[in-house]
Amino acid sequence: MKKKVILDCDPGSDDAVAIMLAWFSDDIDLMAITTVNGNRIVPKTTENALRMVQFLHAGVPVYRGCGDPIICNEIPSRKPNLPRVTLNDCHGDFLPLPEAKIQPQPEHAVFYLVRTLMESDGDIYVAATAPLTNIAMALRIEPRIAGKIKQLVIMGGAICGANASPSAEFNFYADPEAAKIVMDTDIPKVILPLDATWRACITEEQCQELAALGTPAAKFAATMSQKRIDNLKVNDISQHNFDLRHTPGTVASAVLYRYDNTMAPIHDALTIAYLIDPSVITEWVDANVDIEIMSGICDGRMVADIHNTKKGRDPVTARVALNADAAKFTAMLFENLGRK
Ligand code: BDR
Ligand code: CA
Repeated sequence: MKKKVILDCDPGSDDAVAIMLAWFSDDIDLMAITTVNGNRIVPKTTENALRMVQFLHAGVPVYRGCGDPIICNEIPSRKPNLPRVTLNDCHGDFLPLPEAKIQPQPEHAVFYLVRTLMESDGDIYVAATAPLTNIAMALRIEPRIAGKIKQLVIMGGAICGANASPSAEFNFYADPEAAKIVMDTDIPKVILPLDATWRACITEEQCQELAALGTPAAKFAATMSQKRIDNLKVNDISQHNFDLRHTPGTVASAVLYRYDNTMAPIHDALTIAYLIDPSVITEWVDANVDIEIMSGICDGRMVADIHNTKKGRDPVTARVALNADAAKFTAMLFENLGRK
């Protein structure tokens, strides 16, 4: 049976690939796309989601969500709206697709989430590939949705490394309080942090092969992926990262990124790949996961207690991915986007 999935996103070049993968997969029933402030302001992420739906002739409803993080723009020590002006801009304002002629749904994304989850039999998966503002707001309005989400698959955080501040990953940095609200619930959570998404890079060569499949979706995914690689080259991220060699099977394997200037992660698409086939994630740790909201330089930092330092006194709150099978991930892109 197909998995019912709501995709909460902020497209975004990698969100766009996630949308395509979800739409074309035979294993996923993409119920709706909800949008949020993140890579761009919400009018732009919503327009981009609509452009994707129109491009795919998908008929998937798009619900516009929150335009601001829960609180962090009100805190002077945090630079307001910083996430919109990060160094690495691999997104652009608008996806290079025709302007949307279709409209978002009249209902707000947060109310859509509350209503749909409460009316459900607890069989809906939520894939979150953006700041967690909508989901946190929905939880504040109706805490019982926590018991209704079959599984929340989150792209966010990092056990090692960061990409939006010296300590935090973008989706959690852009709304730390929302991430904390979500982590503090007992929703069954799967977190795919940078440690895993950087293991599932697509190479330039694979971009060319993807484009050569010739379908509109494969060609567009190739364009988005190449844009991400080009962006990493421009910012020369190799100067900033660790030595990329690693030893599979050790915790260290999870903390060193794989990068050689000819490849890039498509972070958000890994959430959908995981929902299609969980074996795309090859190493896991079950841990108590928390988000720092009080420290300034560490705001939005994910803290996964992978060594169980409190000796079992804190409950395990999430499954955290440490590694991914890059070949399997790219094969899934090829298979699903190359078909029609
Ligand atoms: C995340 O940040 C965003 O820029 C991407 O779309 C992805 O969701 C990666 O850190
Ligand atoms: Ca995203």
